[in-house]
Amino acid sequence: MKGFIISFEGIDGAGKSTQAKKLYQFLKQLGWSVSLYRDPGSTLLAERLREMVLESNLDPITELLMFESARSSLVWEKILPDLKEGKIIILDRFIDSTTAYQGYGKEINLGTVNILNHIACRGIKPNLTFLLNVSLERALQRLGGKKSRFEDPKYLKRVRDGYLQIFYSEKERDIFLILNVIIWWLLFGIMLLKKLKIS
Ligand code: TYD
Repeated sequence: MKGFIISFEGIDGAGKSTQAKKLYQFLKQLGWSVSLYRDPGSTLLAERLREMVLESNLDPITELLMFESARSSLVWEKILPDLKEGKIIILDRFIDSTTAYQGYGKEINLGTVNILNHIACRGIKPNLTFLLNVSLERALQRLGGKKSRFEDPKYLKRVRDGYLQIFYSEKERDIFLILNVIIWWLLFGIMLLKKLKIS
């Protein structure tokens, strides 16, 4: 498959949706063929599942299976066809969210999470992942009304630590930790200019 997958990850309130949108608009302006999807969501079924899962207080395994069902539908209906067309696919969350939130956060066995991620994705993985890192205090400040999903402050901390664990342990993947978005944009711009000059 010719396409390329870029995923944005981070705890709630990290600002990843904004950066994913900006990158989408930027690449589109350059004339590249690019799609932007949110996970969970972006298909009829996945949007319905998203509503249900985010509005209810489900047990961890039911929640895990709903996130994976939503992802499976996104992969099947949108990502695989886009990859065949050679598009750049930008994802606002993907498999690392499940590892961080359900695996590290809700403490579901990581092996189980990995297997379900693999099944839902038919084996595909992001080619590039940007992990936006913010402090817990900053994220909680930004969350406002959504705070109720994170009543247990230790939960969001486990998720944040989980993301860092993914960053440090998955050495075979291209995962970049973003500490400052302005510096990230500068580096990304330089990298892209170099690539455009070479090709
Ligand atoms: P989202 O709108 O992506 O959050 P934000 O924009 O605030 O970062 O909401 C998705 C929520 O679902 C978020 O709390 C993370 C959670 N989630 C999981 O728990 N597991 C998953 O696999 C995914 C994709 C998301």
